[in-house]
Amino acid sequence: MILFSVGPGPGALSAPGISRELREAGLDVEVILAPGSRAFIGSVAFADAAPVVETPSWTPKIVLFAPASSGTVARLARSLNGGNAIEEYAGASKLVFVAPDLDAATARHPAVRKNLALLRDDGFRLIEGSGEGMASVGEVVAAVLGGLGGPLAGTRVVVTAGGTREPIDSVRFVGNRSSGKMGLAVAREALRLGAEVSVVAANVEQVEPGVDWFPVESVREMKDAVMELAGEANALVMAAAVSDFTPAERLSEKVRRRDGLRVEFVPTDDILAEVRRGYPRLFVIGFAATHGDPIADAREKLSSKGANIIIGNDISQAGIGFGSDENEVYVVSEDEEKFVPLASKTDVARAILDVMISEMSNEGRE
Ligand code: CTP
Repeated sequence: MILFSVGPGPGALSAPGISRELREAGLDVEVILAPGSRAFIGSVAFADAAPVVETPSWTPKIVLFAPASSGTVARLARSLNGGNAIEEYAGASKLVFVAPDLDAATARHPAVRKNLALLRDDGFRLIEGSGEGMASVGEVVAAVLGGLGGPLAGTRVVVTAGGTREPIDSVRFVGNRSSGKMGLAVAREALRLGAEVSVVAANVEQVEPGVDWFPVESVREMKDAVMELAGEANALVMAAAVSDFTPAERLSEKVRRRDGLRVEFVPTDDILAEVRRGYPRLFVIGFAATHGDPIADAREKLSSKGANIIIGNDISQAGIGFGSDENEVYVVSEDEEKFVPLASKTDVARAILDVMISEMSNEGRE
């Protein structure tokens, strides 16, 4: 059980979202609205998220303070609980997460910085966002789930998502219809399972919170990013739709309509196959979108590319794959073929990662 103390501060508005996501990840959450927080949020906001309680129903082993004001940070750092029950629980808990919600001037104040340093030294898990104020919902959830140590704790997973664009001239490109949803679902689930996640995002609009984000455009940029990140990674999931062809030459100016346009295409480098050659011990998952029999194509790519797993799907079916929120896939490895019937991309991602976790532990790579 995780006891979630919502403190006073603008970050309190993110608290229902945080509790909802923690519960969706399978955690029991009870919320306590700390003194002053009701000026920002009421218990009704948690109706579909988590129960709001006066005292927790059992002694919590994990406590999350979000938002934590500078006052809470000071009291936790200096054991000044001031009669506040939840801060007493924090003293007895195994794992305490603190997401400070500080404006820029407060965050710079020497006394506050000293308190934050004390907390860190005492083993509190500080959750600091990339921007001003409290960390985002995704950052808080990722930090808590990562800190709890899921089956992927201690591993780094690189995920490619989206679709590459190959430039024809200064304004035109050849691209594909990948939305990036499948890759982002894999990244999100890997994060929930405790991994550190890097996303190489080809033309994906929405940045995924909690992951390291590497935006790229073309196959060449994606290859450079993947080859660089692969050195530090345990697993690579190539969910992006990578262009198989690129224009033989890139024209530097916009081609005029009256001049007509003929483009010769040449094959791109196969990133998956190259990364396999460069990093033989990396666990590599590829995708194969096929018109027709997905298993046969997946088996063929498993051996031709040297992947550990190929996810096959039949894109001739309506309502799955590109752009959709659902997918239906076959997870094909050397010894196994697992059918994942039509499900949300989140559930499909979880099924893929389940196979990955079991195969990685078989190989002793975890
Ligand atoms: N892929 C890659 N580099 C490329 C093309 C594809 O790494 N230049 C990866 C994709 O991200 C995917 C897998 O390889 O995970 C299979 O992609 P696909 O286009 O089906 O493979 P191809 O080798 O291009 O096979 P086909 O002849 O069917 O197009």
